[in-house]
Amino acid sequence: MERRVNELLGQMTLEEKIGQLNLISHGPPLRWEDISEGKAGALLNFNSAADVARAQALARQTRLKIPPIFGLDVLHGFRTQYPIPLGEAAAFSPRISRLASEWAAKEAAYIGVQWTFAPMADLSRDSRWGRIVEGFGEDPHLGSVLTAARVEGFRQGGLATAAKHFAGYGAPQGGRDYDTTYIPPAEMYDTYLPPFRAAVKAGSASFMAAFNALNGVPSTANPWLLTDVLRNQWGFDGFVTSDWAGIHELLGHGIAKDGAEAARKAILAGVDMDMMGQLYINHLPGEVRSGRVPESVVDESVRRILRTKMRLGLFERPDTDPARVDSIFPSAETRKVAREVARETLVLLQNRDNVLPVAQGVRSIAVVGPLADAPHDQLGPHAARGHKEDSVTVLQGIRQRAASAGITVNHAPACDLFCRNTDGLQAAVDAAESSDLVIAVFGEPQELSGEAASRTRLTLNGRQVEVLEALAATGKPVALVIIAGRPMELGQLADRIPSIVMAWYPGTEGGPAVADVLFGDANPSGKLPLSWFRTVGQLPYYYNRLPSGRPTLANNRFTLQYIDEAITPLYPFGWGLSYTSFAYKEAAIAKPRLGAGDTLKVSVDLANTGARDGQEVAQLYTRDPVATRSRPLRELKAFEKVALKPGETKRITLRVPVEELGFHLDDGTYLVEAGDIEVFVGGSSQAEAIGKAEIIETIRIPPTERRASISRSTAQ
Ligand code: BGC
Repeated sequence: MERRVNELLGQMTLEEKIGQLNLISHGPPLRWEDISEGKAGALLNFNSAADVARAQALARQTRLKIPPIFGLDVLHGFRTQYPIPLGEAAAFSPRISRLASEWAAKEAAYIGVQWTFAPMADLSRDSRWGRIVEGFGEDPHLGSVLTAARVEGFRQGGLATAAKHFAGYGAPQGGRDYDTTYIPPAEMYDTYLPPFRAAVKAGSASFMAAFNALNGVPSTANPWLLTDVLRNQWGFDGFVTSDWAGIHELLGHGIAKDGAEAARKAILAGVDMDMMGQLYINHLPGEVRSGRVPESVVDESVRRILRTKMRLGLFERPDTDPARVDSIFPSAETRKVAREVARETLVLLQNRDNVLPVAQGVRSIAVVGPLADAPHDQLGPHAARGHKEDSVTVLQGIRQRAASAGITVNHAPACDLFCRNTDGLQAAVDAAESSDLVIAVFGEPQELSGEAASRTRLTLNGRQVEVLEALAATGKPVALVIIAGRPMELGQLADRIPSIVMAWYPGTEGGPAVADVLFGDANPSGKLPLSWFRTVGQLPYYYNRLPSGRPTLANNRFTLQYIDEAITPLYPFGWGLSYTSFAYKEAAIAKPRLGAGDTLKVSVDLANTGARDGQEVAQLYTRDPVATRSRPLRELKAFEKVALKPGETKRITLRVPVEELGFHLDDGTYLVEAGDIEVFVGGSSQAEAIGKAEIIETIRIPPTERRASISRSTAQ
């Protein structure tokens, strides 16, 4: 491979090399001639087979016939939409993440897409940031497991990945998209970088640099991130693309006076490809000829791109058949998978009086709320080629299921999508009063979530609260289904409404999946991948925080607390109820004294103590109570989703290699210190303490010795 790469490189002119570094989007200002002139090493947003095939034919007119790579944001589906990534994370299941990614990839690959700008590996503790919807939430372990699963799934389905946005993008100040981020290096290594490292280990073909400045140095010109950590410490040998016009934005960041300087800083820091900036193509020839950028730097970037194209087999692949159309999806098979995935992502937040599942005696249901019948909104942001016409809405899902049981459905939206106008409120109250059960579907219209959707208020927008209060006041049992890209501030509603289900944006088959759970055909098993805050003023909020010298004490205001709100979350990280109940018994630590190379093994009997089949996510947390740096109160270290029949008990074993029980110093050194480790096992981050293990020797690993051993098990 390296010989082939170097042979090809040896034949290239400087302009041809720089052409490989240029990533151009479909749509204005695309000049199709750029492709035949060898100025487009990569293309994005070509999402029809006819356009891909046309570009491939043009690329074959170039002297060296190097195929372009076709990229697209395929995050949670192409035509069929699976739940948005934050929801998918709530399944707490690498199997489910792999499955959804694989199918998303298969559909996109069918029409010629080869590369996805996913997975988003940005950890976030701040729901004000709209893009939290694209990730996995607040936990580095969950994030690492799921990011790896997504990379594998996409690859399995035929797409190379770009892990994004490297790095720190999920922690912008004030939750404002594109704002600056300050994260100390040790915190980067411990919290924000592990999911990216997992992407390298899983064999991600590429990375995307983030828009944000990190500690004053924009990620797109950050040699520490792009070269020291990614290449030298982790051994990544794929390529890095900028984000959309990210190199141009170095001018906005105030670290380059003109395009030439921006291009120079980006390539010297380690950005190989310029997405929609045109700065490499316009300025790098001059920068190289004047000696400001060594040609060897350009060569190395070209090598990374050619190597990736060869690994993917792009030189050998036949062109895409222009007759292919995405309208063959959703197929019966993709609908089935989408429904299965969505079912696993629903989180039952509370269920007082067992309002859910729909009881035997219920003869009529009022379905209220604009999001009950919102085929576009349920797809969520970044829905690639998703068509709202393909969606089965929550209302339709409930209607179908209710019909089979002879239950009447009274539908009353109560208000418009943004709930500004409540002309329909009285009709909704009437529908509620004349029904046995109310299913209210409210939340966040899709336009309020995703990129460039930072919010300072996370209460339900418009007059939704007023509508929900009116429904509660009818005295009828109410179940609230929330469709949203992040937790919402529920305030009094959590007291007023007995049963609440978080459904995220559940995708094309969202309606049937929600109905499956509401009617008890599926037992909810999702768990929160982030802490559900009480008020927006608590943000950023996360469970794995450091202890305080003044731990919270009731009746002592000079301890860690707010004077106007509880310090606790409304629902903790890892939380989610079931229609059955589970018990953890007889937890035991296999070997309480652990040396380097050992594994902490915790076994526990997990019992289904209720009357229905169910799945529980068993979670293991640890704490290092005394260390040279203050360590988090709890950290998730292992989890397993287990299916149990009523009355069944399974003994499960959760495993944590000792080398995952440490922490980093600012220089990247990894330290596992001798001493006690407290262990907690249970069904949420409030799991009970089950004992202690002792690490008997201190392990110190220098940064360059923690290289990610890269797996390329399949296609790539
Ligand atoms: C986003 C990226 C995305 C890119 C291409 C940017 O605005 O930040 O996440 O991959 O556009 O669509």
